[in-house]
Amino acid sequence: MASPTLLPLPVVPFLVLLCFSPACAAGRVAVSVYYETLCPFCSGFIVNDLARIFHNGVSSIVDLRLVPFGNGRVSVDGSITCQHGEGECQLNAIEACAIRLWPDPVILTPVLNSSSIYVNVLFEQHFPFIHCVEHLALTRKWDAWQSCFQDTGLSSEPVIDCYNSGYGRQLELKYAAETNALQPPHQFVPWVAVNGKLLADDYMNFEAYICSAYDGELPEACKGKHLAIAEHTRASRGDKVCLASKIMS
Ligand SMILES: *[C@@H]1O[C@H](CO)[C@@H](O)[C@H](O)[C@H]1NC(C)=O
Repeated sequence: MASPTLLPLPVVPFLVLLCFSPACAAGRVAVSVYYETLCPFCSGFIVNDLARIFHNGVSSIVDLRLVPFGNGRVSVDGSITCQHGEGECQLNAIEACAIRLWPDPVILTPVLNSSSIYVNVLFEQHFPFIHCVEHLALTRKWDAWQSCFQDTGLSSEPVIDCYNSGYGRQLELKYAAETNALQPPHQFVPWVAVNGKLLADDYMNFEAYICSAYDGELPEACKGKHLAIAEHTRASRGDKVCLASKIMS
């Protein structure tokens, strides 16, 4: 009989290598954002709020998952309808393709500079691209989404191929299944989960939830935030959200 202890052996050094940062040792906080590309409150949340964590250091303790499907509907024949029309379905699939192709939101890598000092260099992955598209959506210029490849340095070809081949649609069907299986069901977007806890209309306080969910040493930006989950940013329902029951197309 094979010894069960043989199996995990090659895995152990690999895990040790991967887990060298304090954030890794303490276990990053899982943040999932369920959204749709043309809901202005989703765009605003991504551009103005979520983007902040990549500047203030909170992103170092976060595993961010973006799930671009939102309030879309899948019919029995498998066709997808989106709350803000066909353009939203297209952009949802485009963003899904970018996430699939560059699975990390950003990559911070220590690189030796010319004074032989390690400095963190940011390699742009899917988040800056999505930020760019959502910024255009906020200003109603989302038709120009292809300019975001140039703006962020990501190559357009794999994304366009992913979309044209129908793979983006496949990804959307997976996101639809995940979104529709949420318990309790999502009532609106943006719908944010921090370590599985659904924030509902308190989503604007997501940073406070992240900071209080984290066991390790907190980034500077967390100071004070984990103590007071403020009431004043609470979204009033129907005001700062796109409701799941309203199909506008
Ligand atoms: C290397 O990084 C250090 C720390 O950020 C900085 O003080 C130094 O000026 C950098 N050197 C060069 C040549 O950029």
